[in-house]
Amino acid sequence: MSDQPVIDYQDLLTGLNTLGEQQAQALRAHSKRAANKRSVKPASLSQWAAQLPDAIARGLNPQRWGDLPQWQQCLDSLPSLTASSCDFSTGVRIGEANDCSDAQREQLRTSLMALHPWRKGPYQLFGLDVDTEWRSDWKWDRLLPHIAPLKDKLVLDVGCGNGYHCWRMYGEGAQRVIGIDPSPRFVVQFYALKHFANQFATPTSALQFPSKAASPETLALKKTGPSTQQAPARTTTAQHAVDTSLPVDILPLGIEDLPATLEAFDTVFSMGVLYHRRSAMDHLLELKACLKPGGQLVLETLVIDGSKDEVLVPEGRYAKMRNVWFIPSPPTLLSWLRKCGFKTPRLVDVCDTSTAEQRSTPWMHFESLPDFLDANDSSRTCEGHPAPRRAVFVAEC
Ligand SMILES: C[S@@+](CC[C@H](N)C(=O)[O-])C[C@H]1O[C@@H](n2cnc3c(N)ncnc32)[C@H](O)[C@@H]1O
Repeated sequence: MSDQPVIDYQDLLTGLNTLGEQQAQALRAHSKRAANKRSVKPASLSQWAAQLPDAIARGLNPQRWGDLPQWQQCLDSLPSLTASSCDFSTGVRIGEANDCSDAQREQLRTSLMALHPWRKGPYQLFGLDVDTEWRSDWKWDRLLPHIAPLKDKLVLDVGCGNGYHCWRMYGEGAQRVIGIDPSPRFVVQFYALKHFANQFATPTSALQFPSKAASPETLALKKTGPSTQQAPARTTTAQHAVDTSLPVDILPLGIEDLPATLEAFDTVFSMGVLYHRRSAMDHLLELKACLKPGGQLVLETLVIDGSKDEVLVPEGRYAKMRNVWFIPSPPTLLSWLRKCGFKTPRLVDVCDTSTAEQRSTPWMHFESLPDFLDANDSSRTCEGHPAPRRAVFVAEC
């Protein structure tokens, strides 16, 4: 057994190089005058691709993350299964119950359970319901009507956890989705699932941009009811197994590991990350630096009820979390977005987090939201702060 998880990033690196060439062509097409006006030149995607192998090795260093060899074993112990279909547009489902025996499903459960805790989901895998701590699909349903279509877009998901929303972005037709998350456990969880989904990749999926990433033969439209009619329906039926990779990946990186100025992505998501950042303003500027001119930021974060300039800076813990820095009111965050140079920032959704959306399950048996709230007053956290309320903001760059 090797002491580092075998995550094959080759298709991603090749795809980034191809995109880098396109980016360079687009820049050359710009007038020289416009190019000279820039004070900072963006790093090209090809330059980033060249730096990534070292950054990946640091992010998946077993000296730093002692559990990695054990997680590698989980990947190695996954049963050999072939999915007859996948659906990333109405949920995340890989395979069907009939694609495996009860014994294989049990082996799958055992292997995946070794990667506990499963926080983001839910996932359906070969008839196995991975009922995660969060109903991440509810967040997706809340924001999807308000964002620019992702079809054929290059998308970055900052702080993507185990990549639940990355699959949904791909399900919306994104050309290439890159998630980043510094937690290697979540990266390994993602690749445990991708292992089974990869058979739906086309050999050219990492190379063809912008609109040919998924070939028509492997995309079958599926009637899913009114709420999903707009989706390009990455609902696929098995055609053949190929030795290549779907254009969805997660890198073991924090946002601070990205080049200072990429200006490469059509849409950048930052969901559940802002309040973990010690400098909220720097986070917004870092997100902006990842976006192409005209690209869209989708920002989801904890908020408080309040007027402009009100912000909660919890001195101790917030809902038992240690690393919570800024929880602004929506008008405050809108003003921060304007200050950072985003155009037409708008609040598109506000929602109190319920104990139906975040709770302990067999796949996440640690404490969860019911334990973080005041036992006698569910409008307060156990520390006496306002209970979690989350909002979605959209803005252009
Ligand atoms: C609350 S979770 C949100 C996950 C997912 N985006 C969602 O909305 O469900 C926050 C995630 O941010 C990640 N994170 C923490 N620090 C980060 C950083 N500096 N850069 C990127 N991600 C970070 C954590 O590992 C964690 O997976």
